[in-house]
Amino acid sequence: MSEKPCNVAIFASGTGTNFRAIAEACRGGRISARVACLITDRSDAGALEIARSFEIPSHVIDVKTKKAGLLPEVEQDCVRLCTTHGVDLVALAGFMRILKGPLLNAFDGRIMNIHPSLLPSFKGLDAVQQALDYGAKIVGCTVHFVDQTIDGGAIILQAAVPVGEGQSEDDVLQKVHKEEHRIYVEAIGLFAAGRLRRDGRRVRIVDPVTPDNR
Ligand code: GRF
Repeated sequence: MSEKPCNVAIFASGTGTNFRAIAEACRGGRISARVACLITDRSDAGALEIARSFEIPSHVIDVKTKKAGLLPEVEQDCVRLCTTHGVDLVALAGFMRILKGPLLNAFDGRIMNIHPSLLPSFKGLDAVQQALDYGAKIVGCTVHFVDQTIDGGAIILQAAVPVGEGQSEDDVLQKVHKEEHRIYVEAIGLFAAGRLRRDGRRVRIVDPVTPDNR
């Protein structure tokens, strides 16, 4: 792992269970990263309470629009906040806004997202529901880099969850969430350790640097 922990900004709009998993992994020293701040577009986001309990600074941004995207000026505000906190990596964790402009430019190749499907299947909202309605027998989740597309950036890690006969949607959702927490922490840990190499759409995981292969 690199010597200086990787500073991560979490962007979340909702409950924040992924945020909690990442914050716990950082606090427990399981990955060489620290959560530098939480940025949310909702003043009622559960994630805010989690930030308080971990004593992580949080910011509620005023999105100034009802559209799904963020205005360039608001993205610019987010860039400023991230810069102030010395952020190395942006991790979207249930952030319900599409990034298009300044944030993508400022953090090119340094923004990740977690999506509750085996991409490229079932992009967009209610992905687990979409998969179950489609009759999928295996669902799952994906951590990917964020680019201009929606849920279309290069894939970092995926985990599959088999759908058991007679399992309720809730059971499946819970299993997907559990896997999300695991692979998101792992992906951030790999980034923090400098072990991700991206070549177009392909992301390779390289061996950790040891005294022998330095
Ligand atoms: C997760 O299912 C994630 O895949 C999606 O939004 C949800 C966020 O859940 N992008 P939580 O707020 O982390 O519990």
